[in-house]
Order: sequence, then C-alpha cells, then structure tokens
Amino acid sequence: MSESSETMRIVAIIGARPQFIKAAAVSRAIRAHNAEGGRPIQEVLVHTGQHYDYGMSQVFFDELDIPQPDYNLGIGSLPHGAQTGRMLERIEGVLQKEAPDWVLVYGDTNSTLAGALAAAKLHIPVAHVEAGLRSFNRRMPEEVNRVLTDHISDLLLAPTETAVANLQREGLPPERIHQVGDVMYDAALYHAAQAEERSDILQRLALTPRSYVLATVHRAENTDDAGRLTAIFEALCVVAEETPVVLPLHPRTRGALARAGLLETVEQHCRVIDPVGYLDMILLEKNARVIATDSGGVQKEAYFYSVPCVTLREETEWVETVEAGWNVLVGADKGDLIRSVQHARRSVDVAQRSIYGDGNASRHCVHRLLG
Ligand code: UD1
Ligand code: UDP
Repeated sequence: MSESSETMRIVAIIGARPQFIKAAAVSRAIRAHNAEGGRPIQEVLVHTGQHYDYGMSQVFFDELDIPQPDYNLGIGSLPHGAQTGRMLERIEGVLQKEAPDWVLVYGDTNSTLAGALAAAKLHIPVAHVEAGLRSFNRRMPEEVNRVLTDHISDLLLAPTETAVANLQREGLPPERIHQVGDVMYDAALYHAAQAEERSDILQRLALTPRSYVLATVHRAENTDDAGRLTAIFEALCVVAEETPVVLPLHPRTRGALARAGLLETVEQHCRVIDPVGYLDMILLEKNARVIATDSGGVQKEAYFYSVPCVTLREETEWVETVEAGWNVLVGADKGDLIRSVQHARRSVDVAQRSIYGDGNASRHCVHRLLG
C-alpha cells in the first residue's frame, strides 16, 4: 500500500460544551471526506469529562450526530491544576496506546491545553482549531490555554484574519498558520434548518419572536467576582421589568448565584431555565430581540443570526463583531448594560459575514490535516 492510501489516524480531544459543537462540524467533514474516497481518516474521539451533566454534554451527542466518544476519561470538575493535570496524565495514556498521526484540539478550555501538551511531549503533531484568538487578558484561564496551545501546535487553523495576524505577531512560523474560517459558522449554517424543524422551545416557553432578551453568563471573571455578578444580575432584573429575560443558566453561574444569595431574586424576575441543547439554543438566539452574553460562541452566533449583542466583558476575541457595529462591550457596568440592552438596534452589514469563512471551514481543516 502506498503511503498516501494508508489510513490517517486522528485523536480528537473534547470535553466542554462549545467543543462538542465544533467537533460535530469537523467530524462530519471527516466522514464526508471518507465517503468521497482519497486517503481514509480514522477519528478517535476522547471526551475528558470536563462537562458531564446531560444538558452540558450528552444532549449534543444525541442531537448533532457526533459519534459516541471512544474514551470518556470522566475527569469532572476540579480546580484548574488538578483538572488539567489529571487530563494530561489520562490523555497521555490514550495517546501512547493509539499512536495517532495527529492530535486535534479545539478552542481554549483546560481540555484543549491538556490534549495539546500531552501530544507535544510525546512528539505527536498537534492541530489547533480556533488558533490565534486573543483577548490580551492573561487573567482569563482561556487566554493562558490558547497562547500555550498555539505555541506547541504544528498546525494552526485560524478562523479569521485577526487570528492570523495575532499568530504572526507572536512569531509563529508562517507555514504552520492557515486561515480556514470558523467551524462554528459551519455549525450554525448546518443546524439552523434542523432547529426550525425540530425545536419547539418557543412554544414550550410561550415566547413570541423579538419579544425577549436572551442572556447567558458563565465566565469566571463574572461568576467569581461578587461585585460583577451582582451588577450583571441586578441589571438583567431591571431589564426584565420591561422585556422578558430568558436565562439558560450555566451550572457554574447557578452555583455562584446561590452562594451569593441572589438566585431566588433572579428566578423571580427572569425566565431561568436549565442549559438547553444546541437546536433549542439556535431558535432562542434567532428569535431574540437582543442577546446579552459573556460567551464567545454566543457573541458570534448573534452576529450570524443578525441579532444585536451586548457583551458582558471588557474585551473580546471576536473583535470583528464589534467593528461591524453588531456587538457592544459593556463589561459589568449595570447602567451601561441596561441602556445598551434597551437601545440595541440592528445595524449589521450582512456582507461582512464572510469574515468567518465560506461555511466550509471544517472541510478546510480536514484538507490541511491531510497535508
Ligand atoms: C469551561 C471553560 C470555558 C468555556 C466553558 C464552556 C476552562 C478553563 N473553561 O468553563 O472556557 O467557555 O467551559 O461552557 O476550561 N459544572 C456542572 N456540570 C457540568 C459542568 C460544570 O455542574 O456538566 C459546574 C461545576 O460546578 C464546575 C463549574 O460548573 O466546577 C465550572 O465548570 P468548568 O468546566 O470548570 O468551567 P466552565 O465555567 O464550564
Ligand atoms: N449553547 C447551548 N446551550 C446553552 C448555552 C449555549 O447549546 O444553554 C451553545 C451556544 O449556542 C454556543 C456554545 O454553546 O454554540 C457556546 O458555549 P459556551 O457559551 O458554553 O462557551 P464559550 O463559547 O464561551 O467558550
């Protein structure tokens, strides 16, 4: 057998909610490539277990046709060092056994860093999907994870021009850097029609399109700082007096609100619900009047679906959404948050959506892996 017809083996490391969505897109592109012929690719999926509640993990496998993981390491919730360390140890064992051609990591979570580090130490090439994103805020755990992952990766699959420029500025070799587009844009396009067909979330919650604010909050900088947590949720409660606020609550934030004695008040004012699956989330996003969020993925989805976004952070990695006039950064300033949500208007230049690629970023990732 010639070398080019040998099966390429890829171990993909996933563990947290946004990674299931990104991996769904790339895994589908791998299956499409195999169906078309050419050098076959075998994907081995490793779930670290960083997220484990049904609504934070399994729902995405059930809805998005992601193959069941070949390994679930069951690491769970732990402080950063213990969580990343245990992942590193367990992933190393898997990689020694599987001896893949590539390790594929996504985004900027502790699962991402552990996967990249385990591979780099074993001299297994690492490919990073969503390379080059920067907030320039090293107090964010995600920023540390991304910078380190990029610097030990062999293939940097960057979503945007800004991401490419960030990698170049840090002196990473140009031959490693490829602008492929955003795999979350692929996912948004692919699943939007399915969401319309399959999700009845608006009926279940008795929501009328454009009549509510959708809010998500989970960043450590907001949940673990009592002042910021209070300001954000007081603001959302004020907004809710005029416009319903639908709040799919991340378990981290539920815990933080309960500890701060705020959960009951928030539940009295806002429509607090458990985290939802991706198809329900798409419909909630598309039909919202405004989205208020500190999520990276949700900021972009607001842009994809032409819904104005108010971001509860001081900076963003997705600067294009702000430059397009579609996203405003308010941090945790109560007054700014209330005003921005109340006055948000649609003003996007739709043509600029190509900044996130052509909707085939996952295909481009697969082609780059094949070399
Ligand atoms: C993690 C990522 C973050 C990403 C987010 C996506 C890191 C450092 N952070 O943040 O970049 O934006 O995932 O949602 O990797 N919990 C549960 N059930 C679960 C998962 C979490 O109850 O299924 C609770 C636990 O109390 C846990 C807390 O949420 O301690 C935080 O979970 P963790 O995975 O550590 O960080 P996230 O805030 O989810
Ligand atoms: N999401 C979801 N259900 C929810 C909240 C978010 O399916 O209840 C999706 C959202 O549409 C986006 C992704 O999860 O695709 C974003 O994940 P998250 O906000 O947890 O992480 P981040 O993008 O900030 O890393």
